[in-house]
Amino acid sequence: MIKFELNGKAVTATSPDDTPLLWVIRDELKLKGTKFGCGIAMCGACTVHLDGNAIRSCVTPVSVAAGRKVTTIEGLDSAAGKALQQAWVAEQVPQCGYCQSGQIMQAANLLDTKPNPSDDDINSAMNGNLCRCMAYARIKKAIKVAAK
Ligand code: FES
Repeated sequence: MIKFELNGKAVTATSPDDTPLLWVIRDELKLKGTKFGCGIAMCGACTVHLDGNAIRSCVTPVSVAAGRKVTTIEGLDSAAGKALQQAWVAEQVPQCGYCQSGQIMQAANLLDTKPNPSDDDINSAMNGNLCRCMAYARIKKAIKVAAK
């Protein structure tokens, strides 16, 4: 059993220790906002925060979360996180929407570390989060709006 904090609440996972955190979050703890895209750390759809840092939950064993804080899109209530979610709506970023939880979690990590990111900062932070609808321009704009 692995105990950790999920969105501010103590949880205990009973899945095997090497189960990817993504599947514990989705299947065992029933939070469906975090998505499965590739399963090999290549797309960013499964991005969550571990102690405030963006990680790929599809390749992170749940045992890594023991005693630590995990935040998913459902619990993203930091100032940057709220500003991003408002900007995402205002700028009508999503098309199909599938990758957007991961995009927002990655962007929140960027704004937590760089509140006023340059274009290069945004490009480099968001580079690994893929969007098959090609919403990249709107994603970038929403990050800039949220950073103001
Ligand atoms: Fe984890 Fe694609 S599902 S990076």
